[in-house]
Amino acid sequence: MKYFGVVPAAGRGERASNTRPKQYAEIAGASMLQHSLRPLLACGRLAAIVVALNPDDAGELLDALQREPVVRIVSGGDTRAQSVDKALNALDADADADDWVLVHDGARPCLPDEDLRRLLDDLSEDPVGGLLAAPIGDTVKICADGRVRHTARREEMARALTPQMFRYGLLRDAMREALVRGDPPADEAEAMERAGHPIRLVAGAASNIKVTYPEDLSVAEAILSRRAGARP
Ligand code: CTP
Ligand code: MG
Repeated sequence: MKYFGVVPAAGRGERASNTRPKQYAEIAGASMLQHSLRPLLACGRLAAIVVALNPDDAGELLDALQREPVVRIVSGGDTRAQSVDKALNALDADADADDWVLVHDGARPCLPDEDLRRLLDDLSEDPVGGLLAAPIGDTVKICADGRVRHTARREEMARALTPQMFRYGLLRDAMREALVRGDPPADEAEAMERAGHPIRLVAGAASNIKVTYPEDLSVAEAILSRRAGARP
């Protein structure tokens, strides 16, 4: 059984910054994308990691990425789902249907090594796969036009994190099906859910945040700096 990584990093990061795409922002001594890749590289279990980059960013980080023997670069697409689909296609010659693919956001720089290990270990015998997920702290309101329609049941909710890890053949087919319908899923789990597959949830740390808004950058920086300080 082989394991592969897919890292979508071709977005424009419009909610975080109106200058440089967030995955290239420097935090805690390296770019956000390098922090996102670090645990995938360090675990030593991935045969290849396909990183989807925007062709407009050619040159950014390219040297550093090309120095990693397991990293391959492809052009991303207009949506996250299209970027993931293109990266999955790039694995067609190497991956068997039963092999595993782990999709991890290029803008999620604080994945703890132990969460990645738990995901790999807990799902290794599963026929489908699953994702890291964290409980929701706040009460969640379903709203419309700036008013609350109703209060969601928090016990039935989870924050979907990444990596999301699925059997290669099932994920590739589910993503293609979703894209052919012209309705890109928000994440891989949504594509798999629409295809009717049962998806496992694996407990993940709330600190594995996705950087979405400007204030998330300093939160990610604080998490990474605290961890660096805690290391012997
Ligand atoms: N992504 C991608 N290709 C796209 C859009 C997004 O590879 N066409 C990637 C982003 O680079 C990011 C991840 O998907 O690593 C999560 O997406 P998101 O947080 O929405 O990033 P952006 O789309 O860049 O940000 P925004 O939606 O604020 O513009
Ligand atoms: Mg986006």
